[in-house]
Amino acid sequence: MDIEALEKLIKERRSIRRWKEKEVPDELLKKAVELAAWAPNGGNYQGWRFIVVKNRETIGKMANAVQSAADRVASWPEAKSWEEDVKRYQRNTSFFRDAPACIGVFISEYRSVMDKVLTAREAVDPVANRIMGFRRTAPTAIQSASAAAATMLLAFHQMGLGAVWLASPLMAKKEIEEILNVPAEMGLVCLIAVGYPDESPRKERKPVEQVLEFFC
Ligand SMILES: Cc1cc2nc3c(=O)[nH]c(=O)nc-3n(C[C@H](O)[C@H](O)[C@H](O)COP(=O)(O)O)c2cc1C
Repeated sequence: MDIEALEKLIKERRSIRRWKEKEVPDELLKKAVELAAWAPNGGNYQGWRFIVVKNRETIGKMANAVQSAADRVASWPEAKSWEEDVKRYQRNTSFFRDAPACIGVFISEYRSVMDKVLTAREAVDPVANRIMGFRRTAPTAIQSASAAAATMLLAFHQMGLGAVWLASPLMAKKEIEEILNVPAEMGLVCLIAVGYPDESPRKERKPVEQVLEFFC
């Protein structure tokens, strides 16, 4: 693949939130997960698990759990200060119930050797506690899961499928983990909803000059 083809793949992928009522073949879902698992990951620990859900009732249960959490938050008096934004969030939080397939991305905790030393010492040493605090701001396990999710979105796009990365299901993290019978040591990071696209949204990006600097 030349760089132009790679650029086209990256730039033409869009988040898709409306799908045709057409099943996604298991082989495509399996291939996308296989490719996602080639993403860079901390220590090549590969502590991730991917659960594909196509069963309508199960997807519906997950969507209901997320919607109830969003509705509950929206009912609190504190939500009044951001009423319009909260209402929009409520409206757009469980659309994945219509997705032909959802993939749950789960990860177990990853502890590098530095994490082991730092956690053993942090209770008695403020420097260790400070360094561990830095590491906790961007956990390696979450970074790894994110690399896998981004890779999966590109794979789906190349297959002619349309997918969206969803962090909002974290509103019902425990409920989803129970619905999917996930072992206690695994935690939900995100859901990827996927199907054959029934929309062609456009999105732009800031010019690279606005987000890049070379530090000399
Ligand atoms: C970490 C992360 C969380 C996201 N969570 C949601 C979400 O909960 N709901 C949603 O509709 N889209 C979600 N998205 C998709 C973004 O809204 C989308 O990537 C962004 O608007 C840019 O659009 P594009 O993907 O079409 O380029 C998420 C994306 C990322 C990377």
